[in-house]
Amino acid sequence: MVCITEAKEVFKAGYGAEATHLFTAAGRINVIGEHVDYCGGKVLPAALNLCCKIFARKNGEKVIRILLKGIDGVIELDLDKLDSYKDLKYGNYQAGVAYLLKEKGVGLVGCDLYYDCGVPFGSGLSSSAAIEVATAVALCELAGVSYDKKELALLSQKAENEYVGVNCGIMDQFASAMGKKEHAVLLDCATLEYEYVPLELGEYRIVVANCNKPHNLKESKYNVRRQEVETALKLIRQVKEVGCLAELTPKDFNEVKYLLSGAVAKRAEHVVMECDRVKQAVEALKTGDIVELGRLLNESHYSLRDLYEVTGKELDALSSFARKEPECLGSRMIGAGFGGCTISIVKKTAVDGFIRRVGKAYFDAIGYRASFYETSIEDGVTVTQL
Ligand code: GLA
Repeated sequence: MVCITEAKEVFKAGYGAEATHLFTAAGRINVIGEHVDYCGGKVLPAALNLCCKIFARKNGEKVIRILLKGIDGVIELDLDKLDSYKDLKYGNYQAGVAYLLKEKGVGLVGCDLYYDCGVPFGSGLSSSAAIEVATAVALCELAGVSYDKKELALLSQKAENEYVGVNCGIMDQFASAMGKKEHAVLLDCATLEYEYVPLELGEYRIVVANCNKPHNLKESKYNVRRQEVETALKLIRQVKEVGCLAELTPKDFNEVKYLLSGAVAKRAEHVVMECDRVKQAVEALKTGDIVELGRLLNESHYSLRDLYEVTGKELDALSSFARKEPECLGSRMIGAGFGGCTISIVKKTAVDGFIRRVGKAYFDAIGYRASFYETSIEDGVTVTQL
């Protein structure tokens, strides 16, 4: 645990006292169900071993202090002015979570926090959700209040929507808070009902690759996509009573698609077909049909590329080089897109060669390197007394 010892030393050097607690919340992959969470669809994310760690102690003052690994300086959040940190470059996610907890009546206590985020930023592995959920857990634990992880996921999403200004869905925060070792979470984003599905891939593994083109949801077309699907829903509601786009089967959609045109039609078609693929993917996982799961991953990527238009040349290159590998069953971008990561299903024995060849082909085509991560699926949240 070299990194924990090191982090504790950084904490002590920064704050002049020992950390008393370590809180972690995970980044995530999403097996399938992309850009459907905000349309009431089902998603299938899983929490990763890459997580945001917060080393913490109470400071007896009315301030939350934040040190971030790799960033100089201490950020101070006054507990009485939590609504005034929206424009911070760093610390606004934490301030948003603290602000909403306080609004809910949680008696926050002052604390010193050191963030060591092992989820690469802007990678599509939900570093922001990991930071939000870990912060929410840390602040509740230090305040000595009981909490429900599902509620903290919702509060974290609200912080991102209303405080940070990214209109994200619930998938990332839910996976981070509720993830379970070796399982994916089949989450119905309309009702928040969920079920754990064992992520058993037999002789296959999921390889995560970062195309290293940074993305930022606030600056990307993410919010535009949300508006486009809302427009589609409004138009469809002229002729059909429907709560959300995800309620439509492909057959229902065929009957109403004459109402839509251009980009709006393509976006809605992606949502409906992706929801259908989630069903098929869960079936494939439950019956151990990994070949079929791989096919569905490929279909998902093509749809995100051609209909939802959120891939870009980097993610397309990375997933298409992966697909050319004989031991790879399927590959797709995950998360918001516009940069970030892919997942590929690769035979365990072929992983090293896969990484070497896909890495080289990507470098030759794009001009900079992709990163590959050795990942495992873990519990979303941990709390440790140091
Ligand atoms: C981002 C958002 C999620 C979800 C995905 C796309 O990760 O935070 O809510 O919309 O994009 O599936």
